[in-house]
Amino acid sequence: MDGAPVTRSARAAELEAFHRDHVLGCTRCPLSEGRTQVVAGSGSPDARVMFVGEAPGYHEDRTGVPFVGQAGKLLDGLLEGIGLRRDDVFIANVLKCRPPGNRDPQPAEIRSCEPHLFRQVAIIRPALICTLGNFATKLLSGRPDGISKVHGCELPMEIGGQPTLLYPLFHPAAALYTRAMLATLEEDFARIPELIRRADGVVSAGPAPPVPAPAPDAPSPEPPPAEAPAAAESAEQLGLF
Ligand code: URA
Repeated sequence: MDGAPVTRSARAAELEAFHRDHVLGCTRCPLSEGRTQVVAGSGSPDARVMFVGEAPGYHEDRTGVPFVGQAGKLLDGLLEGIGLRRDDVFIANVLKCRPPGNRDPQPAEIRSCEPHLFRQVAIIRPALICTLGNFATKLLSGRPDGISKVHGCELPMEIGGQPTLLYPLFHPAAALYTRAMLATLEEDFARIPELIRRADGVVSAGPAPPVPAPAPDAPSPEPPPAEAPAAAESAEQLGLF
């Protein structure tokens, strides 16, 4: 990447062509055999902020759109809380195809699929990348630290040849299991507008706000509330903590 300006239509066309030619018909791993369709990602190709989840679930596999189930509704609410809509951001996942029974992504699947995500980042060039949960955070940070330790702590990085600010967050599904998690997610989300401005270089004067200290380990998950998905046994098993 040479940092040259990319026009709106050029970026949208490039992303569309990339999805059409390389993602939507992908057969790089065996998940292609069980999927209904590839869930490439959705939102604005010109977004300043990108959210990266884990993998499509049942509803995403059916609709082809990321985060349309319960966790997605929670994500919509968190975005609304900071004055953003889905169309203002770009939402993608580490895996573009649904793992059977919503099991954890396997290392070989992540390796097969990661070029798609890195290319999306290189095309969109977001100022801020919010990783949702452990899988996205470990993949994009390249570090083994779990989300309980690093959530809310921004990290300047180069991803897909693009300087960006990585901002790890708990996966929204964690708040379906542990009610205290919703408050933590809301607190971490509240910093997003300021981080976008900072990453964009709009805020150039004054000291940067302090990096929050790593949080202690997350509290033990409460029993799932009635509305939790039946297939999910615990947030921990889902890799959410
Ligand atoms: N969970 C994810 O990580 N991604 C989705 O698209 C839906 C649920």
